[in-house]
Amino acid sequence: MSQSSVLNHSPNLYQLLGNFLVDKYRRYRLSSANTSPLICSLVQHLPIRIERMFENAIDGEHLPFLHSSTFAEINILESGRWGWEAELYMRPKSFMTKMRIRLELDRERNCWVTKTLSGLGKGTEIRTHAIPKGENQIKVVIDFYVPKLPGFLHKKYSEYYLSTYQRLYEEDFSMMSERQLALDFNKQGARRPRTEYTEGINLGLASVLQSEKSTMFVFDGKKYCLRFYQDKWIAYSATCPHMLGPLNESEIADGHIVCPWHNYRFDINTGQCSSNANYCLTTPPDIYHDPATDELWTTGRV
Ligand code: FES
Ligand SMILES: [Fe+2]
Repeated sequence: MSQSSVLNHSPNLYQLLGNFLVDKYRRYRLSSANTSPLICSLVQHLPIRIERMFENAIDGEHLPFLHSSTFAEINILESGRWGWEAELYMRPKSFMTKMRIRLELDRERNCWVTKTLSGLGKGTEIRTHAIPKGENQIKVVIDFYVPKLPGFLHKKYSEYYLSTYQRLYEEDFSMMSERQLALDFNKQGARRPRTEYTEGINLGLASVLQSEKSTMFVFDGKKYCLRFYQDKWIAYSATCPHMLGPLNESEIADGHIVCPWHNYRFDINTGQCSSNANYCLTTPPDIYHDPATDELWTTGRV
């Protein structure tokens, strides 16, 4: 999770300039205070494991893709289990929305601090504390500190931070919970006997499925998408090998699909990832159309 001092979700040019000038004023304002004031706090109760929250915190790469209405671009400079440091642009991308951010995670204390090192919002700090409330429940407290902010702007900044972070957490929660479901599904799939797939499985009537954008099916413990693309039936993995993001709704362009979580691009024929050579889609079963019955079948795997 990152931070900004831009005061609108999608600011127009005047608002952008206003925010930029306020930020400049704040940074060069003389102040005797040697601590940053707490501007506001946000509390979230999330039915999710704390491991998912930690993964999300140290995953800076997802910001411009999962949160595409807030962040325009990220360039990760360094990263690890400790966190990440990156150059980042808020939306709309401009020299006025550029910032350098560092996030450091302290797993033992269940907390992380996000600091703006330079650029827009320089000096601001967001301190997040995730408190486990059970195996699948956490309480997250996010405190926003902005140095040298004139008092009359506290309310406006507070409104901005609360609405932005509420939205970011909703987007993050959908990703974390979908990932948890995918992890649970994979665990169950590993226990399933393989013999039931020897005959192939009936996927349904082609004339019915042709009107669907994509049809998901499970084969040999893995999820796949069935699609009619360029006059033929194809199948490809419905799950991204990077962090198990969903590929079933992605548009196919030039024979490739793009994962919505980190924008990795995959060739649907070969499964190769053109964004990161370490990843490759699981090989799907072949699809067979029986012209006599109009049924679509997978071929058997074993
Ligand atoms: S989950 Fe990261 S690119 Fe798909
Ligand atoms: Fe996020």
